[in-house]
Amino acid sequence: MNDGSDLNTICLRVDPRQPEPGVIRRAAAVIRAGRLVAFPTETVYGLGANALDARAVTRIFRAKERPSSDPLIVHLSAVEDLERVVSEVPEIVERLALAFWPGPLTLVLPKHPRVPDLVTAGKPTVAVRIPSHPVAQALIAESGVPIAAPSANRFGQISPTRPSHVLADLEGRIAMILDGGPTFVGVESTVLSLIGERPTILRPGGVSRESLTEVLGEVALSSTVVRGDEAAVSPGTHLKHYAPDAEVTVYRGDPSEVQQAMRVASRRLIQQGARVGVLIADEDLQAFQDLPVAVQSVGPSDDLETVAQRLYVSLRALDRAGVSHILAREFGTRGLGLAVRDRLMRAASGRVVDVQSDS
Ligand code: TXA
Ligand code: MG
Repeated sequence: MNDGSDLNTICLRVDPRQPEPGVIRRAAAVIRAGRLVAFPTETVYGLGANALDARAVTRIFRAKERPSSDPLIVHLSAVEDLERVVSEVPEIVERLALAFWPGPLTLVLPKHPRVPDLVTAGKPTVAVRIPSHPVAQALIAESGVPIAAPSANRFGQISPTRPSHVLADLEGRIAMILDGGPTFVGVESTVLSLIGERPTILRPGGVSRESLTEVLGEVALSSTVVRGDEAAVSPGTHLKHYAPDAEVTVYRGDPSEVQQAMRVASRRLIQQGARVGVLIADEDLQAFQDLPVAVQSVGPSDDLETVAQRLYVSLRALDRAGVSHILAREFGTRGLGLAVRDRLMRAASGRVVDVQSDS
């Protein structure tokens, strides 16, 4: 089940702002040897392999137990390298690159024949991004090859935002982990398709819909994002993804009514013998003080950067607390709120309570 190398996963500390060249050289050598390195990006930890080496990429799918129908993102260190993996670069890419790269935006473009079919799950398109995290940047540049990297978790689990999350899922299955501490954004990149009539967001993420609209004029949302339905456009975006072990329910609506509904539901579940955890905002803390529930706050609800940054670590913490049910509030659809809602909906496999306002 490992990547075909040591069962001993080497964990190397690295300065997230100024990565030590010696550490990066060691990791790049592992990539060039066709083995797997988990590394921090600004969004979540990625599990990297040489994207042009099909055997190395096979190891990603094996280590993650990921079905080969789910395509990978190819990471580059500079826009000049786009032509190595993309067969045709539309004009609009220049403006998007100027505004958002390096950063948490992934573009779906026509694939270059050089990219192994395994990377793209046989599709004629390839997803590419240029990450801004200094460690990711340095690793890709030093490797000298494009790096295919999904999130560094077992398939179906929550994406890792801490090195300890990567170890929990993949220790003994991969050659190396670069420990650069917590990631910065906390949710994955926005996946934007430039195939077809209109630019379409397949997965909301670190770059908001509003900022894309500023550059593109108009941007569509794929139906899976709008409705959270099961017919996935982006294969990895099916529901039941990013899921903790506990049963998650998302509460939507007016914040004070949501608070009330979550309190009532918590009490009922506890009476039935369930162990309940709540995922809330700082301003909700008081309302749950008197209840025997595990509490995780992701920050003040109007600070969406903090909310996104803490989302996965909080879900993992509730799982570790051994709760059977997680009740989560949402944070609207503005800015990073859309990505947060999308991930909560997936964690909940679409289980949503729309709290009706009386007024
Ligand atoms: O922030 C991120 O994007 C992180 C870091 C490591 O870069 N990566 C990540 O990769 O989240 P992964 O494999 O967990 O998710 C990639 C998403 C999936 O939803 C996949 O279906 C979609 O991108 N994707 C990849 N290639 C695609 C393609 N050719 N067409 C449509 N969707 C694609
Ligand atoms: Mg993933």
